[in-house]
Amino acid sequence: MASVTSLTASVHQRLADALSAALPEAGAADPLLRRSDRADYQANGILALAKKAKANPRELAAKVVDALPADDGTIKDVEVSGPGFLNVTVTDKAITENLAARAADGDRLGVPFAEKAGTTVVDWAQPNVAKEMHVGHLRNSVIGNSVVKILEFTGEKVVSRHHIGDWGTQFGMLVQYLLEHPDALGHKSAEDTTEAGEEAMSSLNRVYKESKVLFDSDEEFKTRARRRVVDLQAGDPETLAIWQRFVDESKVYFYSVFNKLDVQIEDADIVGESGYNDMLAETCRILEESGVAVRSNGALCVFFDDVKGPDGNPSPLIVQKSDGGFGYAATDLSAIRDRVFNLKADTLLYVVDARQSLHFKMVFETARRAGWLTENVKAVQLGFGTVLGKDGKPFKTREGETVRLIDLLDEAIDRASAIVREKAQDLSEEEIAERGAQVGIGAVKYADLSTSAVRDYKFDLDQMVSLNGDTSVYLQYAYARIQSILRKAGDVRPQAHPELELTAAERALGLHIDQFAETVAEVAGEYAPHKLAAYLYQLASFYTTFYDKCPVLKADTPAQVENRLFLCDITARTLHQGMALLGIRTPERL
Ligand code: ARG
Repeated sequence: MASVTSLTASVHQRLADALSAALPEAGAADPLLRRSDRADYQANGILALAKKAKANPRELAAKVVDALPADDGTIKDVEVSGPGFLNVTVTDKAITENLAARAADGDRLGVPFAEKAGTTVVDWAQPNVAKEMHVGHLRNSVIGNSVVKILEFTGEKVVSRHHIGDWGTQFGMLVQYLLEHPDALGHKSAEDTTEAGEEAMSSLNRVYKESKVLFDSDEEFKTRARRRVVDLQAGDPETLAIWQRFVDESKVYFYSVFNKLDVQIEDADIVGESGYNDMLAETCRILEESGVAVRSNGALCVFFDDVKGPDGNPSPLIVQKSDGGFGYAATDLSAIRDRVFNLKADTLLYVVDARQSLHFKMVFETARRAGWLTENVKAVQLGFGTVLGKDGKPFKTREGETVRLIDLLDEAIDRASAIVREKAQDLSEEEIAERGAQVGIGAVKYADLSTSAVRDYKFDLDQMVSLNGDTSVYLQYAYARIQSILRKAGDVRPQAHPELELTAAERALGLHIDQFAETVAEVAGEYAPHKLAAYLYQLASFYTTFYDKCPVLKADTPAQVENRLFLCDITARTLHQGMALLGIRTPERL
């Protein structure tokens, strides 16, 4: 098992060496190498360097060509073009050998681990207790899940934190209600995860509604509920035990949704708002003593020059309310202390709705002033946009209510199952259900991940499950088609033949596969799964062209058959690994 130097990197190195030989004063200058349509690569860096050295760019380019090692087996041809670009073509042999080295490296496919791995705490998949999950929770789950997998693949140590909303004044009302109506949460009978989840949510919903009605109509209940909040905050055992029932019941529901979404959550990583309770008072004390926060009308506040309310007055971050209560900010500040000092994170990543950006901006700045975040410990919000309906407005049901996540997922699975059934020739009902779920959930995830996270996107199931275009179904079909070819090949096994000449379509496919590692590194560095999705879509497109132009099993010679099977296999493995990093399954048959 060894990581593989990409062709891009080796060509880059050769050009950089030749460049410093031709122009020593340039030092370690960057030739600025890119993939290009004219040749395999184009280097555009010489122009600027020549200008700086007051040299003629075409002459400098020619000197660089002369300084390149003759016939080293990698570069086949270099030519000076235009005002001083270099067009570089690599040998077919180098392409095939590079892919063979990747193929020999198991699931990692030659992708190196990052040079410096750190510890990142990722805050993702954070639904709220006793509340239904909606499309917003789709995004923080799907994006978070993918980012975690991508970071782990680069060798980063990742700790997940699911900052669920399990605390706050509404629990006074809920707990008080359950105390007075002990059977309200009902008795559960379902064994199946989905049904148990549905049951749990529907009884939570009922309790929520009933207690709210009482709270709004009965002054005495309201008073009891308010007193209950105080008991809860004081850690009264009976109150806590009932609160815990709400949390446990909600978890049954959360797990059923995550299960359907094919997202793995560890119980130990669910550390909700309540988990930071013991730290809140101390967090406030530290902030107040250090002068980062000040009392203003009784509340403990942090002020910012550039954050003003609509009236133009400074609008502070309130760490503690004037009645002594702590809110969302105090919890997040305490969570930062925990993540930095106990979990020893050097990066804190928050996969949270972009509408919470001001909150995080203020929380991060406060943590910087307090010295918790430093040059070596950074915090980043991976803020995501809103899911829109087909009409371009925030996604709502026809009745104007928020859409339940579970309903969306079920609908996607139904649609996908219909497509699988239509295409399936020899699949059993059970297989159709399994593939339907993999295709439907994959479609929803891919649609979410394939646009840049900050952008809003339209939830359009017709488009998501389409077989053509930039969809997961298209990628899954490409994968399944390759598997079918490999099955048909029977005893003929994929085998690289570096001695063979390659066609243009084979070269384009091979050079794209060579870029996988660079893509993963870029995607991890920018927390940008959409760039991985774009890479995979291109990969499937290059494969389609190859498949149209190059017969595989009917190729001219046995060696060519093996080599093309080898290209099929490495394409499939790259697709599989890339999709896995997005959290999407690639069924063997469709
Ligand atoms: N529970 C919150 C919501 O549903 C998201 C929590 C985000 N994480 C955090 N550390 N504040 O909007």
